[in-house]
Amino acid sequence: MKLSKRLAAIDALITRQQNTIWDCCCDHGYLGMALLKRSAADKVMFVDILSNVMADLEATLTRNKKLRTPGDKKPEWQVLCQDVGSIKLDDVANQVVVIAGIGGELALRLVQQIIANNSPECVKHVRFILCPIHHTYLLRSGLHTLNLGLHSEHIISDKNRIYELIEVSFKSNQTVSKTGDAMWDLNNKQHTAYIQRLLNHYNKMLNKDELYYQKVISDYQSLYDS
Ligand SMILES: C[S@@+](CC[C@H](N)C(=O)[O-])C[C@H]1O[C@@H](n2cnc3c(N)ncnc32)[C@H](O)[C@@H]1O
Repeated sequence: MKLSKRLAAIDALITRQQNTIWDCCCDHGYLGMALLKRSAADKVMFVDILSNVMADLEATLTRNKKLRTPGDKKPEWQVLCQDVGSIKLDDVANQVVVIAGIGGELALRLVQQIIANNSPECVKHVRFILCPIHHTYLLRSGLHTLNLGLHSEHIISDKNRIYELIEVSFKSNQTVSKTGDAMWDLNNKQHTAYIQRLLNHYNKMLNKDELYYQKVISDYQSLYDS
């Protein structure tokens, strides 16, 4: 199974051998399976709340001899059918939590819950790789409030959609900006069209909370001043 451009961009951020990788909200599990195949970690955890999808995924992983042959050195895997907010992290030095393909508001809530439900000792070694659908301003503001620092941020264009790929941890001191200061190429038409779409969307939201959305709009507009 060839990864989509979006999932391939996430995969490409995991270059160093990891102890544990969490493919959260994994659904089909394509990303985790690709990580398993290239032995990117000692252990790959698949987590989703849908029991039928997780049962199918478990059956696929069990059947697939390339992913786990008894006695060989391939990484371990585990399928968990539960809310991502309640995962128990491993106490290891290199751990990545990937949350992709869900809304930014939910992604923030899940990150907040993971941090609240695990010891600071475990959480301090974790790198979060986030690639949500929409609501990235809210997500970014929340990551900043949590004191998470930025490692990298990228714009990914995949099948006529634009995604923000954000990598954060407590080990970085770089501020997470609300609009993604480090990722824009204002000479790239896809990037400017995406900013314009965000501005159009937030202009429509003005009647819901004028003060808040005016600030969001002026933050995105100021990208053009930098
Ligand atoms: C569109 S899929 C994303 C699949 C994959 N991560 C990707 O980016 O292509 C979203 C998945 O999130 C799962 N999900 C939503 N909220 C969840 C939660 N709180 N805990 C676990 N899984 C959740 C859904 O069941 C669904 O399978």
